Amino acid sequence: MNLMLFGAPGAGKGTQAKFLIEKYNIPQISTGDILRAAIADKTDMGMEAKKFMDEGKLVPDSTIIGIIKDRLAESDCKDGFILDGFPRTLPQAESLNELMSDMGISLDRVISLNVPDELIVGRITGRRVCPKCGASLHVEFNPSKEEKVCDYCGGELIIRKDDNAETVKSRLEAYHAQTAPLIDFYTNMNVFTELDGTKDVSEVTKDMIESLS
Ligand code: AP5
Ligand code: MG
Ligand code: ZN
Repeated sequence: MNLMLFGAPGAGKGTQAKFLIEKYNIPQISTGDILRAAIADKTDMGMEAKKFMDEGKLVPDSTIIGIIKDRLAESDCKDGFILDGFPRTLPQAESLNELMSDMGISLDRVISLNVPDELIVGRITGRRVCPKCGASLHVEFNPSKEEKVCDYCGGELIIRKDDNAETVKSRLEAYHAQTAPLIDFYTNMNVFTELDGTKDVSEVTKDMIESLS
């Protein structure tokens, strides 16, 4: 199953990806997580990307497309994958189509988690993430059992560098200007499914699994 999770920053893509990994036993490919790992490793690519991410701007397409090309070629993707946070621009979506067609595969479904901008700020400023396993919790809406400790792997929960009210504004702007046009792109491909992302985490998971079966 080749899936994509689509939605604004903070819509719940990372949160829901965790359930799909378990259900379908396929990897999550989050370009945001890959970029943050490159920053932690202080690679040239990471250092270049960091400038954009800290300002809430999109990293250039050429960098992102290179990352995805390498990642999809890895053996754990052979039975499918969950794209999270990619593609985010029309050129990225077009490159993905070309890449997948070269690989002889196609996208089964794009699941869009709809959450209005007014709710996004609270979600992002209360988020706590686990750098070890990528879990995404929330102080109020999805609290960890133990404060600052990841429920999944025991790692220490931290606040992401770009999770502040100022950066959220530019991330939302980037989403509306550059990413939202993909709704038409994937609707035309007949793979686009919209879900109400404002429901509780478990209800969104239920709707998502139902829409895939
Ligand atoms: P990325 O890491 O992808 O960030 P994002 O798109 O801004 O998305 P988030 O990770 O913030 O949100 P999410 O939808 O995963 O929400 P989550 O599940 O965590 O990208 C970061 C940066 O990298 C970008 O700004 C850009 O610079 C760069 N980048 C990455 N990919 C790129 C690309 N393809 N092209 C160019 N640049 C790229 O949930 C959010 C919070 O809400 C959590 O606290 C969670 O617990 C809570 N929550 C989740 N679901 C619910 C619910 N149903 N009810 C209540 N709370 C909930
Ligand atoms: Mg995420
Ligand atoms: Zn963890």
